[in-house]
Amino acid sequence: MSPEQFSVAVLDWYDRHGRKDLPWQQEINPYRVWVSEIMLQQTQVSTVLGYFDRFMAALPTVQDLAAAAEDEVLHLWTGLGYYTRARNLQKTAQIVMREHAGAFPLDVEQLTELPGIGRSTAGAIASLSMGLRAAILDGNVKRVLARYVAQEGYPGEPKVAKQLWAVAERLTPHTRVNHYTQAMMDLGATLCTRSKPSCLLCPLQSGCQAHLLGLEIRYPIAKPRKALPQRRTLMPILTSRAGEVLLYRRPSSGLWGGLWSLPELDDLPSLDLLANRHALQLGERRELAGLSHTFSHFQLAIEPWLIRVEAAPSAVAEADWLWYNLATPPRLGLAAPVKKLLKRAADALATEQNPGEQP
Ligand code: ADE
Ligand code: SF4
Repeated sequence: MSPEQFSVAVLDWYDRHGRKDLPWQQEINPYRVWVSEIMLQQTQVSTVLGYFDRFMAALPTVQDLAAAAEDEVLHLWTGLGYYTRARNLQKTAQIVMREHAGAFPLDVEQLTELPGIGRSTAGAIASLSMGLRAAILDGNVKRVLARYVAQEGYPGEPKVAKQLWAVAERLTPHTRVNHYTQAMMDLGATLCTRSKPSCLLCPLQSGCQAHLLGLEIRYPIAKPRKALPQRRTLMPILTSRAGEVLLYRRPSSGLWGGLWSLPELDDLPSLDLLANRHALQLGERRELAGLSHTFSHFQLAIEPWLIRVEAAPSAVAEADWLWYNLATPPRLGLAAPVKKLLKRAADALATEQNPGEQP
């Protein structure tokens, strides 16, 4: 789709399905559109509907807002939240009165210099109320465009944001930019939703790269997760002559709560303490291939050691410790990496006993 085909498709959709009955779409002027856009920055349309008319009835012009008592403005805002918006609203009204003779500047760049007005809000005010060819890129439009071009990279990255702004600028038409802007917002809010886009009803379907790839949900690319902190632990797989492994039950709270696990050691010398505690006589030892396990807030590097136990008491003296028989495993809850390690240990032991069967 060329940019012309894109905007024609969007405008055609607007004529048939776009919203035309919102209160800030009536008696359009920069003041009304600005107040509505600030309200809509962090609040849903359905909530804003209950506030906008009341605000306009009380403070119908930028002059009224500039001159109002701060308490009055905050009173009209009560329930909308993010009260910095209300305070910035009044600051901006006062600047417009003092420095712009009571008229909003007819220029995106000057609009962005006013408190509370970012680049997208400035674009919305300029296009919706002044008919200026200005692009917007609020959350909804960002999603539509990121999908339309299958934009790689996290849009929070300045480089990626810059590319998306360039897409937004390129696709913005020279005529009916007010309807186009409203339509793009509505498309993102109603069709191109975050988790269930209605591509079959979408006017952009035939040119949408994410849709062509069948990867709508992949875009916009999510914020990259920070690398998790690394921890390491040594897990001795203490194996008796009878093919049993020493396990202990983890405390019921915390990681792997209540599950059975291999002992954990900081280093190999600590092994002697463990052996003493359970009156074990240790034999041959060898390291097995390491294992990495990811928890929500850290990554655990496990260094498993297969260690022969030459002699041991027939039972463990402490509760929450047991000899786990690899050949006839009891039914109990094991931490996932422990289950994997027990399987590896069983395979390693079988290979040692039948070296001829090694592949
Ligand atoms: N969200 C932000 N601006 C909007 C508008 N003009 N109409 C509907 N939702 C919006
Ligand atoms: Fe969004 Fe689907 Fe339309 Fe693409 S085709 S813009 S993914 S609704």
